Amino acid sequence: MFENDVADGDRRNSLHRHWSSRFTFILAVTGSAVGLGNIWKFPYIAGQNGGGAFVLVYLFFVFLVGMPVMMSEILIGRRGRRNPVATMKLLGEEEGGASQWRYLGYLAIVCSMLILSYYSFIAGWALSYVYESVSGTFVDASIAEVTATYQGFASNWVATAIAHTLFMATTVALVARGVKRGLEWAVRLMVPALVGLMILLLVFSINTGYFSAGVEFLLAPNFSELSWSGVLIALGQAFFTLSIGIGAVMAYGAYLPQETSIPGTAAVVVCADTVIALLAGLIVFPIVFANGLDPAEGPGLVFMTLPSAFGQMSGGILYAAVFFLLLSFAAWTSAFSLMEPSVAWVVERFNRSRVEAAVIIGFLIWLMGFGSVLSFSVLSGFKFYKGTIYENIDHLTSNILLPIGGFFIVVFAGWVMCRNSTAEELGGVGPAYSVWRFLARYVAPVAIVVVFLQTSGLL
Ligand code: TRP
Repeated sequence: MFENDVADGDRRNSLHRHWSSRFTFILAVTGSAVGLGNIWKFPYIAGQNGGGAFVLVYLFFVFLVGMPVMMSEILIGRRGRRNPVATMKLLGEEEGGASQWRYLGYLAIVCSMLILSYYSFIAGWALSYVYESVSGTFVDASIAEVTATYQGFASNWVATAIAHTLFMATTVALVARGVKRGLEWAVRLMVPALVGLMILLLVFSINTGYFSAGVEFLLAPNFSELSWSGVLIALGQAFFTLSIGIGAVMAYGAYLPQETSIPGTAAVVVCADTVIALLAGLIVFPIVFANGLDPAEGPGLVFMTLPSAFGQMSGGILYAAVFFLLLSFAAWTSAFSLMEPSVAWVVERFNRSRVEAAVIIGFLIWLMGFGSVLSFSVLSGFKFYKGTIYENIDHLTSNILLPIGGFFIVVFAGWVMCRNSTAEELGGVGPAYSVWRFLARYVAPVAIVVVFLQTSGLL
């Protein structure tokens, strides 16, 4: 995926290797964006927050806040061409005279590790479901049986810990070897295949007889269902699903060739990501209503509904196994981007090899993951603030740290960086530039502040 760049002494080009093409970069960012956030998280939090109105607000945040933040992250990354800490320090000094902007980079490192700690645990569920599918657990299983399988599995800490370990170990191996070619191949194959299987599931959902109920739940806004805390969750999810707010995309942007169009790339990624999330919602809710499940069921929603759908199809064993394998691939390509900021930082800051950096960082994340593993079993009764340890990590990262990171990123790109620098990165002053600048300077920061103020009583 990278090409070794010939060092020419120009920092804009020489510090890192580049993505081999624009298309590769789009693939990498898409691979980072499309993941458990779309297929596992989006349906479950949409269900918990009443559906339609939540989805509408979510879409508003994705396009009017998320998109300018993503463009800002990429342009900052490409201008700095270093890990997020060094990039923010360098550009902070160059553009605003303050090297303290580097703290944004440290925030990125802490936050991405926290996210990956539970992301890996949930990805472990997807991996285990490949095994369950192949062993025929779901064939002709009723919803009650599938639900019982999920509950038995999620509360079995040994099984989930093994799956978490397996996922984290493979992620470390991938990152350590820097198998970016493998990553490119995975995304190229994964995204179309995933969409193909999702269309198959969609056909199943249409035939449940409850499709219109599902569509109505997902898309018909009923604002009385939506609280301000739901609005905050929608904001957090917009950041989470696009992989923005903590420098993951910034770290990828560091390897982006100068001639690639940033607005074009962001538009493609945001649209693809949104289509996949909505597709997941359209699949899940008809199955929920057809089986009398509660849409607000929580993190198990996808793992309770989809296996029963596959179980009723002919050839379902194969489809289910492939689907959960693809979901694991989607999680790997996202996990890769969650490791990149900290691994790049350790490599550059402490002069370590990529292998050492990946092992050290991976080990820490693996340990932290036990907070989430145990939240569903031994420590499920241990609740404070927002609930279990898992619920607190999720709330802290998605709903607080990502929007805060995003706020400072757009403020930096929109207000601190000089117009010439941003215009140069965004392909000159034109309509796209003006729209970006307006969103980055006004709409995105104001939206984030308003949501924070409104929910500060709830935080
Ligand atoms: N966007 C990914 C998903 O939807 C998760 C993810 C990957 C992420 N990298 C990130 C979230 C960086 C926040 C920040 O599954």
